[in-house]
Amino acid sequence: MRDSNADDLTAMADLLTPLAIRVAATLRLADHMAAGVTTGAGLAERTGAHPATLKKLLRFLVSRGIFRWSEERGYEVTELGAPLRDGAPDSVRRRLSMDGLLGLAELGLTGLLHTVRTGEPGYKAAFGRDFWQDVSDVPDDANVLAEEVVSGLEADGALIVHSYDWSGVSRVMDVGGGNGTLLIELARANPRLRGAVLDLPGMARAAAKRIEEAAVADRCEAIVGSFLDPIPPGFDVYVLSAILCDWSDGDAIKILRRCGEAAGADGRVLVADRNLIHDDDDAHAARMNLLLTGTVPAPVRTLKQLKRLGAAAGLELTWEGPATRRRALLEFRAH
Ligand SMILES: C[S@@+](CC[C@H](N)C(=O)[O-])C[C@H]1O[C@@H](n2cnc3c(N)ncnc32)[C@H](O)[C@@H]1O
Repeated sequence: MRDSNADDLTAMADLLTPLAIRVAATLRLADHMAAGVTTGAGLAERTGAHPATLKKLLRFLVSRGIFRWSEERGYEVTELGAPLRDGAPDSVRRRLSMDGLLGLAELGLTGLLHTVRTGEPGYKAAFGRDFWQDVSDVPDDANVLAEEVVSGLEADGALIVHSYDWSGVSRVMDVGGGNGTLLIELARANPRLRGAVLDLPGMARAAAKRIEEAAVADRCEAIVGSFLDPIPPGFDVYVLSAILCDWSDGDAIKILRRCGEAAGADGRVLVADRNLIHDDDDAHAARMNLLLTGTVPAPVRTLKQLKRLGAAAGLELTWEGPATRRRALLEFRAH
């Protein structure tokens, strides 16, 4: 007789299927098949994979209905596997790719036991390295990270450009500014504004490239550095967009302090944080809470908690902008 609970639980706990799908996404197998590479040997050559092992992966994914195989046509993508193609309208390839922002973070979940025992981030427990350092080290030609940070900004990023009074600001630093999307938008909306992105090497390279392409290199630059170290002074406003939400209270206070020190008495720190409001009863919030804790970690904070972080970093709240469900704007200055 089938023990359905045990079977259901075992199926829920399966690690092989998700990892096999993610390997397929990372190697872009569906795109290669769609482009006409349909033999195991051809796919191994195209992806640089070990031929015999890739064949095992393909066979397994055929058994899961993601690919199919026939003597005449070789390997093909099924309807179920179609979103693994980059160009599919509902593509999940980048999201599942092991060198993409989310895919990389989720690998940290293998350290979940350590996280639950200690409260420490899963990614570091699993790999012994800092998540963002690994993000920075992803080769430029993978380029997925630079693209993903843009989509992150779409979550109410326009609030920063349009709700804050930039008219009196000459120089802005986007601290942890990613690929430069926000700085470029700010420079376009404010023709006299000059600015810089400060980020880890990989992302700073992506920002420099975008700044060049956007033809604002005469007013904008990308600086390599860490916001956990002293930050270059001399800017009027230091923006922290979607940064504190990735850090524990202790680190968030340190980052705010670094910005406050750089801003000095006359400068401002503009916090534009994400993941603000949550409801513990909601299944989505429950998932996000554990997922984010187990990966980056990214605590979910209330507006009140965010203000308390500012106060703990010795900053005074000088302006409170609009808050949406996904983002809030708070301006601080050093005491
Ligand atoms: C969630 S992204 C936010 C990017 C951008 N500010 C936005 O609003 O979309 C976090 C950014 O912080 C950067 N970062 C992480 N650790 C850093 C560090 N120690 N110093 C500087 N930047 C860092 C990452 O490279 C990434 O670009």
